[in-house]
Amino acid sequence: MPSRRALFSLLGLPLAATVAAGCSSPRRARALEAFGDAHESTPEALAADESRWEQVQAAFDVDRSVVNLNNGGCSPTSSAALDAQRRRLEFANALPMVNLWRIQHGEREAVRRALAESLGCDPEELALTRNASESLETCLLGLDLARGDEVLTTDQDYPRMVTTLEQRVRRDGIVLRRVELPTPCEDNEALVALFESQLSARTRLILICHVVNVTGQILPVRELVAMARRRGVAVVVDGAHAFGQLEFTRDELDCDFYGASLHKWLCAPHGTGLLYVRRERIPEVWPLMAARHEQRADIRKFEELGTQPYAAQLAILEALVFHHAIGAANKLARLRYLRQRWVDRLRASAGERLQLRTSLSPRFSAGFATFHIDGLDDQALLESLWRRERVLTTSFAAPFPERARGLRITPNIYTTLNEIERFCEGVERALREGVR
Ligand SMILES: Cc1ncc(COP(=O)(O)O)c(C=O)c1O
Repeated sequence: MPSRRALFSLLGLPLAATVAAGCSSPRRARALEAFGDAHESTPEALAADESRWEQVQAAFDVDRSVVNLNNGGCSPTSSAALDAQRRRLEFANALPMVNLWRIQHGEREAVRRALAESLGCDPEELALTRNASESLETCLLGLDLARGDEVLTTDQDYPRMVTTLEQRVRRDGIVLRRVELPTPCEDNEALVALFESQLSARTRLILICHVVNVTGQILPVRELVAMARRRGVAVVVDGAHAFGQLEFTRDELDCDFYGASLHKWLCAPHGTGLLYVRRERIPEVWPLMAARHEQRADIRKFEELGTQPYAAQLAILEALVFHHAIGAANKLARLRYLRQRWVDRLRASAGERLQLRTSLSPRFSAGFATFHIDGLDDQALLESLWRRERVLTTSFAAPFPERARGLRITPNIYTTLNEIERFCEGVERALREGVR
C-alpha cells in the first residue's frame, strides 16, 4: 500500500489541505489530525493510545446502544464518506443525464487510479464493482470451463461462492472438489502440499480466501499461486476480508484474479467492491453483463451494468483518505489489540473451555478471531448475547466443519474498549448462569 503522503498526492490533495478540508467534516479532520504524527510511533504503541482512537470512534455515526461485533459482515461507513456519498447522490439527481451519465461516470477513473495505487496494480487492471460477490462471480462464471473440468476450493469458502460453483456443476458439468482446511493452522508448507495433493490432470481452477472469513486465517496466497501456476491452474483469490485490513500489494501476492468488498474493512459506502484481473488475462474472462467484442481486453467490460448510482463508488476516495491517514498498519495493530483484550479476558474466565479457532500469530491471522466455549451452544450464546446485552455477533455452524465452528468476533476501528468489555461480561454471565 502507498504511504499516506503518496496516496494524498495521487488524489491531488496535499496532506495539510486534506486535513484542513475537514470543513465539511470536522470530526474527520480531528481523526486525521490524531494520526498526523503517527510515523513517530509504532503501530503497537499507537494501538493502545486511547485518545487517538477516540477521535476515530467519533468519526462514525453508529448505534451505540448496540455493541456491533459483526463488522466482518458489513461495516458502518465513516460519516465523512457517507456525507460525500449523499452529496454526490444529490448532485447526480439534479441533472442525471449530465451529472450522472457524463460527469460522475468520468470521475470514477480517479477512484480506479486510487484503488489501483493501493493495490499496486495498473488502473487498467482494476474494475469497480458492487461487492466481492460480483467480483468473484465474474471470474468463477466468466472463465471457460469444459464438462469434467475440476475446480478446487475449501470447506470454509464463502457460501455464495460455493453456490456459484455448484451452479456450474449443474449447468456445465464441472466437478467441484473441496480441501479440508486444517483449523487453526500454522504450517503454510503443509497447506500448499495439501492443495497440491488434491490437484488432478483435470483441475483448471482454485478458489481460495486470502483471509478466511470463518476464522480470520491468512492463507499463503503467493505460495499457492506459484504452485498452481506450475501446474497450469488459475487461482481466484477472495479478498473480501483482506483489503483494508491487511497491508499487501498485488506483487506480493503475485495473483491473477482478486475480488474484494470495500464495505467491510475499508469502511467505504455499502455496495462497493473491486475486481483485479492481470492485464494479459482480461480477454479470458467473460463479463457477467455482455460487452462488445472490441472491449474484450478492456477492464471496463466488467462494469457494463447500465444506469446505476455512482455516489457510493465516488465516495470510496473519502474512505481511502481516511484509511491511509490512520495508516493500514495502525488499523491492523488496533484490531489485533482489541482481539487480544477479549481473548485474554475470556481465557482468564473460561480457562480450558475456551477454544480458539484462530491462530493469534500475526503471520497466520488478520485482526479478528472465532471462538467456541466447551459446554455452551454457539447459537444459544449468540442469541443470549443479543437478547441480554445487545451484543451483535455472528456464528458458524454446519455445513462448516466442527473445528471451525463458533462465534466470530469482528470489532472495527470505531469499537471502544468498553464495548469489548461489555461483550466479555455477556460471555462471563453465560459461563456463570448458562445461556438463556
Ligand atoms: C470470504 C467472503 N467472500 C465473499 C463475501 C461476499 O462479500 P459481499 O457481500 O461484499 O459480496 C463475503 C461476505 O461476507 C465473505 O466473507
